[in-house]
Amino acid sequence: MSLGVHNLEVVYEDVMLALRGASLSVPQDKIVAVLGANGAGKTTLLRAITGLLDVHRGKITRGHVSLDGSTIDTRKAAGVVKAGVSQVMEGRRVFTEFTVEENLRVGAHTQSSGDLKDKYDRIYGMFPILADRKDAVAGYLSGGEQQMLAIGRAMMAQPKYLLLDEPSLGLAPKIVEQIRDLIVSIRDSGTGILLIEQNAAMALSIADHGYVMENGLTVMDAPAEKLRADSDIQEFYLGGGADSTTSLRDVKHYKRRKRWLS
Ligand SMILES: Nc1ncnc2c1ncn2[C@@H]1O[C@H](COP(=O)(O)OP(=O)(O)O)[C@@H](O)[C@H]1O
Ligand SMILES: [Mg+2]
Repeated sequence: MSLGVHNLEVVYEDVMLALRGASLSVPQDKIVAVLGANGAGKTTLLRAITGLLDVHRGKITRGHVSLDGSTIDTRKAAGVVKAGVSQVMEGRRVFTEFTVEENLRVGAHTQSSGDLKDKYDRIYGMFPILADRKDAVAGYLSGGEQQMLAIGRAMMAQPKYLLLDEPSLGLAPKIVEQIRDLIVSIRDSGTGILLIEQNAAMALSIADHGYVMENGLTVMDAPAEKLRADSDIQEFYLGGGADSTTSLRDVKHYKRRKRWLS
């Protein structure tokens, strides 16, 4: 059982090649991290899987996405959620004028079956903080609470796979820890996780497997424990030095030159 991305190529506005053949696999019982500098194509990868390219004038020009072995149609976002894949977008987009519970209800809109109250209760069990604040207007929640609400809303659809785009962005270390624990418990309850993070230390501390993306390509693919031990990854991603002008290859190249010159 896995979510598969096969040789995906994505073009924006018919000219901007943002993915150049990215491939990865997310088993349903694992956390898979995708690391990469700004502009590497991480968000594009998620948009391509969940049918959100259209609104950004992007198109898949090659490759496909598969769910438990069958190709899925990624042109319609609602269809992808129905198939079992939910996403939490970058920047925790909650409906700020709605209450917490109203936000959760939006997350269940693709399902007709099942009792709504059971679904709320399941989420409140997972996120006690949302239960305490269920009638509060989402716009008044803290950044961390809004991120939890965004994750809770995605979980209302009871997805087989959950995709998270930079869930720790802009949050205090203590809140990041809570989010991290939550991601682990979601995996343990049987939902596969695709975790996109600039915070490589956080991502690799819980991931089972990791990929590194550069310039629209998945350039590295290894067990998380191996990535944690890789000195180039440490220097490049864990040292906070990653930006879009350098690549992992540059670092390796630079180190080789330095060795050669000394
Ligand atoms: N809507 C868009 N139109 C044109 N180019 C885009 C659009 N969105 C992203 N891009 C470009 O695609 C590349 C990958 O962006 P993105 O997927 O956002 O990277 P990341 O999430 O890794 O920072 C970047 O060069 C970015 O400028
Ligand atoms: Mg992004």
